[in-house]
Amino acid sequence: MPSIAASVLSRTAQPHPAHWSEITAGLGAPQASISPKYFYDQRGSELFEAITRLPEYYLTRTERALMHSHGGAIAAAVGAGRVVIEPGAGSCDKAHDLCLRLAATHFVGVDISADYLHGAIARLRAALPGLDARAVGGDITAGLRLPAGIPAERRLVFYPGSSIGNFDPPQAVALLAQMRALAGDDGALLIGIDLPKDRAVLEAAYDDAAGVTAAFNRNVLAHANRLIGSDFDLRQWRHRAFFNPVASRIEMHLQAQGRQRVRWPGGGRDFAAGECIHTENSYKHPLPAFTALLREAGFARSQSWTDARGWYAMVHARA
Ligand code: AVJ
Repeated sequence: MPSIAASVLSRTAQPHPAHWSEITAGLGAPQASISPKYFYDQRGSELFEAITRLPEYYLTRTERALMHSHGGAIAAAVGAGRVVIEPGAGSCDKAHDLCLRLAATHFVGVDISADYLHGAIARLRAALPGLDARAVGGDITAGLRLPAGIPAERRLVFYPGSSIGNFDPPQAVALLAQMRALAGDDGALLIGIDLPKDRAVLEAAYDDAAGVTAAFNRNVLAHANRLIGSDFDLRQWRHRAFFNPVASRIEMHLQAQGRQRVRWPGGGRDFAAGECIHTENSYKHPLPAFTALLREAGFARSQSWTDARGWYAMVHARA
């Protein structure tokens, strides 16, 4: 029979020093938090895929419909023969459609999950043999270096999915400014943003009837358990999602069901019953407010396309 120590080690894998300090600092703060980037372990990525297919989660299918119905106008504005760079490219499905429509010359997919990305890039090359497609493992927020041979001209940074919503306005401006630098002086950005809408529609999208978003939210604790060796009991944490109208954002939290004592090597924290860990913000900027952020980040002119319900927008911003 394995010793207790061995079984604990096998459950917790290797605590990761870089993540350890970030996660334990967040958990130790007066308002405990965990960065939403920790949602995306293997299971979290699968749960997010499932979220994109939920009836309540309108974002993915609204963006897809928008790219389909306004694809011609968007392609005309962006122009042919672009060098497309996509932070957080993942499966590269959206890149495939865009590169095909734009007759793009080059594509650079950037993702933290490099293994998954390499497979996606291989499929993209097979589907579009004329496209010079490359994979870069890395995090755009940490600054990144492109492989040699990627032209500096005619760049289009593609950032679909409303991922910018995870960043508060100052962080969003900083990230958009990095994209502006990456695009270069003759470059542009094509970005998807989720717009403010009826509160019930928003809250249902982040608290679905099937409980997939709840499982996605709680899974961050399983990921933390592996990364820092903590002992969160997932069954003791309740999914909370609500719209904060002052900040114009959905907030997700995990709420302690009863007092919780959580331990990890080198520390720990007690949570009172009802206390929350803040796990995500998802901003819903009105278009004029988002245009102002783009201008602050150094983009000059922008043009946007919105679906008939006014729920979602694709914005093309030129440097
Ligand atoms: C991947 C950040 C766009 O905010 O809608 C989905 C993540 N969180 N359901 C979003 C998410 C809960 C998603 N983004």
